[in-house]
Amino acid sequence: MSAQIQSAPVCEIDFYDAASIADPVDVYHKMLELGPVVWLAKNKMHAICGHSAVVSALRNHESFRSGAGVSINDAVNKMLVGSTLNSDPPQHDRTRKITFEPLSPKGILQVKERVEAEAKRIVDQVLEQPAFDAASELAPALPLSIVRDLVGLGDYGKDHMLDWGAATFELMGDPKERRADATKRLKRLRAFLEDSAAMENLSADGWAKRATQLGIDSGMDPAHAADLMRDYIAPSLDTTISAIGYGIKLFAENPEQWTAIRDNRDLMRNAIEEIVRLNTPIRAFTRVVANDTDVAGVVLPQGSRVLIVFGAANRDRLRFARPDEFDINRKTIGHVGFGQGVHACLGMNLARLEMSSLFNALADRVERFELDGPVVNGVNSTIHSLASVPVRAILT
Ligand code: HEM
Repeated sequence: MSAQIQSAPVCEIDFYDAASIADPVDVYHKMLELGPVVWLAKNKMHAICGHSAVVSALRNHESFRSGAGVSINDAVNKMLVGSTLNSDPPQHDRTRKITFEPLSPKGILQVKERVEAEAKRIVDQVLEQPAFDAASELAPALPLSIVRDLVGLGDYGKDHMLDWGAATFELMGDPKERRADATKRLKRLRAFLEDSAAMENLSADGWAKRATQLGIDSGMDPAHAADLMRDYIAPSLDTTISAIGYGIKLFAENPEQWTAIRDNRDLMRNAIEEIVRLNTPIRAFTRVVANDTDVAGVVLPQGSRVLIVFGAANRDRLRFARPDEFDINRKTIGHVGFGQGVHACLGMNLARLEMSSLFNALADRVERFELDGPVVNGVNSTIHSLASVPVRAILT
């Protein structure tokens, strides 16, 4: 060990207790005040939270492995390993190649008009009432209608997709008292993936059918090929729903930013990145350290599981000046809300399209939003979710 090697400062926060879930931003700042790498005494693991250290880890998939799962819970990892998210190259690259095509910039172009038309329809419907809940009424509508149809799981799968996604995210953190329930719900997803009748009901032109067929064609056994559709089921709904609800909260709190976007729609692209930076729907995932690895002067031991805190990195003032301010003109490049490196979000082009379609349709009609009651956080051990964002829309 070199002379500069130190042990990590000890952080007494439980990253997965109710208080941390309710106010993740306060937790991020407390961790960052201690240093870019901390020891979470309650969770018994190192956490990488500084922006530069998080980016280095995400870009170094050889030292920071996903193949033993990215949850903090080994039992849960056993249920999830093998998916694109929970694997390492070269296996990771093979599955990602199969599932990425419909989500590539070219693939997304093909659904652009459909997403925009659906966004307009939803906005017109929601704005029939002057006051509505942006988290529970507005945010879920577009992802639910668009993604569920595009994935094409058939009626049973379609109706359970949101529940399976939420259960997966619960178990990728440490839900403590909610664990038994989430495990039951995840087992139902496993049963669905193993049910050949369900597989026959997949829509002929949906992404799930396409991925399963391509998997079989590439030599996978049918059961393993059916697992490919988890790339679309687990991560596609709660993430985007969280970002949409948070975006409306930010625009209600910062009316001048809404005016700026209404005046110049070219700002939309960057505004979406700024929302995802501040919200960071996925608070954190883990990696297993392949070899003793020095991160910012702390040696992370071989074989240990470390928490990579996306949310803290995105609030690091060493990378983003005035990190808690919502500024749609700031340079958002480098934020890790969609991850980075080989595991960078597979669905980010779709998420961006959903968000821009919805915010554009709202900007056509809404002069400003006013908060109409208290914002209430949701409860999920991985997702920074919102249960309620009551707003009043002042129409043009
Ligand atoms: C605002 C919405 C979204 C956010 C903030 C988000 C965030 C992320 C993040 C942070 C990662 C990296 C995980 C890691 O490094 O371990 C990731 C990976 C992934 N995301 Fe997303 N996501 C979003 C929407 C979506 C959608 C709509 C889909 C699918 C349609 C999707 C599918 C995936 C998949 C399959 C991976 C794993 C990729 C890989 O391991 O190569 N995501 N996402």
